Amino acid sequence: MKKEIIAAVLLTVAMAFAGTSAMAAGDAAKGKKVFNKCKACHTVDKGGKNRVGPNLFGIAGKKAGSVDGYKYSSAMIASGVTWDDASLDKFLKKPKDFVKKTKMGYSGLKDDGQREDVIAYLKSLK
Ligand code: HEC
Repeated sequence: MKKEIIAAVLLTVAMAFAGTSAMAAGDAAKGKKVFNKCKACHTVDKGGKNRVGPNLFGIAGKKAGSVDGYKYSSAMIASGVTWDDASLDKFLKKPKDFVKKTKMGYSGLKDDGQREDVIAYLKSLK
């Protein structure tokens, strides 16, 4: 009897952990909707056009300022950033705080959950 209770407790704890990590990873489907805020300036399809901003296909893991044929600000090229969860999160929260003098004319995505979701969406583009 006692063993079963312990097993049940462990299972509940394990499920709780699985739940939180799934949340922290963001939801790409929701992120796709959040990305509507970015679409005026960015395409996401493979080989898509650069608009006001660069095409963002496969952006996760890339060096900042490295999309072919796009004319970046010198600030972005000099940033030395590689786009991972942490750097994307900081940049998208307040672009001009993270890369001072970036020409991305977007004030930032304040909502933590929306940032997580949009980052999950960007990572799904590969
Ligand atoms: C008003 C136009 C505009 C909007 C809206 C916008 N961006 Fe940008 N974005 C840019 C520009 C311009 C750059 C290039 C910045 C530079 O060179 O300094 C850029 C750069 C980026 C980069 C770095 C790309 C690279 O190759 O290093 C990422 C990532 C990015 N944007 C994501 C987003 C996301 C996600 C959103 C929506 C939440 C968004 N942007 C909204 C214009 C925009």
